[in-house]
Amino acid sequence: MQKHSKIFVAGYRGLVGSALLRKLRALGYSNIAVGDRAELDLRERRAVDEHFAREKPEYVFLAAAKVGGILANETYKAEFIYDNIAIASNVIDASYRNGVKKLLNLGSSCIYPKLAPQPLKEDYLLTGPLEPTNEPYAIAKIAAIKMCRYYNEQYGTNFLSVMPTNLYGPGDNFNLETSHVLPALIRKFHLAKLLKQGKIEELRTDIARRPLGFGLQLAPKADGKEVETLLGRVGIAATAVELWGTGSPLREFLYVDDLTDAVVFLMSTYDYRQVGEFVNIGAGKDLPIKELAERIRQIVGFAGEIRFDSSKPDGTPRKLLDVSRMRSLGWEPKIGLEQGIKLTYESYLFE
Ligand SMILES: NC(=O)c1ccc[n+]([C@@H]2O[C@H](COP(=O)([O-])OP(=O)(O)OC[C@H]3O[C@@H](n4cnc5c(N)ncnc54)[C@H](OP(=O)(O)O)[C@@H]3O)[C@@H](O)[C@H]2O)c1
Repeated sequence: MQKHSKIFVAGYRGLVGSALLRKLRALGYSNIAVGDRAELDLRERRAVDEHFAREKPEYVFLAAAKVGGILANETYKAEFIYDNIAIASNVIDASYRNGVKKLLNLGSSCIYPKLAPQPLKEDYLLTGPLEPTNEPYAIAKIAAIKMCRYYNEQYGTNFLSVMPTNLYGPGDNFNLETSHVLPALIRKFHLAKLLKQGKIEELRTDIARRPLGFGLQLAPKADGKEVETLLGRVGIAATAVELWGTGSPLREFLYVDDLTDAVVFLMSTYDYRQVGEFVNIGAGKDLPIKELAERIRQIVGFAGEIRFDSSKPDGTPRKLLDVSRMRSLGWEPKIGLEQGIKLTYESYLFE
């Protein structure tokens, strides 16, 4: 990939896509096409074809997808499978038909069987049943990996797939209905802290700036009592924050700038024969959600309790990626969890 190469970043407004744009620009790549979101719905084949014909990208980062946490995955099952299959098949096939030199497809660690041995090696794909709460998403992600592989085998393309662990960072989704666990924890503790401090005006501004989710809205002149009632509906009180599940599942987290570092490194250095069908990208270590919550509580500065609602689902008990293949290719993450959470909280406060 040269500095003047034409690059298409699909999903440029998302957590990964926006971080990729920052990274590519910082490295001096200046010929980047994103495709105006209002005009380019990647589920629409004709729009995708027109975009490729017009922009003629040489390199494609496929970071567009319908993404969400357990609740969103359970609620929007049909959209999770349809949108993700449509986006991936349109972009992958258009890349082949337009002679794209290299494509990098972002998958997810959800592709692995629910009870696969830990840490998860790339070889464990399709060795057992998936976690039911995100099966539609996982099936779409597996279809995309297989498309890349079989296009490489039949058409001689150079399409790479990566499986990142849970990502977080600036530009994350803080909507409590659709977000992942880490940004949801940051927001819940932040709002609980403001409530405890009686900062009703700041709470009003926060809720007006970013939707809480679940259709929850605040009247512009809502008083303290109304704000408290609204937040109570998502488990936030001045004395305690309630979280879904038991807190015991183990999860791994990677700061998004580490992920973009890894994918630009792969795109510039390797082809699919060296990478294999796909490669895991992770931090190489995990921690219980309970411990993650405690760390975030401290960083945000909420002096209250954490309660777990064990009637709510936990999801997979453990999900740690085996990152030895990526290590053997010469890449390691650089940003630790503590630093990453602080940077993400800062971005939440000031973006
Ligand atoms: N976040 C994670 O923890 C994580 C972990 C592992 C893998 N991944 C993978 O990384 C990739 C990017 O995830 P992310 O976290 O950056 O997700 P995200 O923040 O939700 O961003 C997804 C992007 O895709 C775009 N998009 C969705 N549907 C589209 C459509 N029909 N047409 C055009 N654009 C569409 C969205 O555009 P709008 O903003 O306009 O809707 C958004 O820019 C996904 O493949 C995901 O599976 C993410």
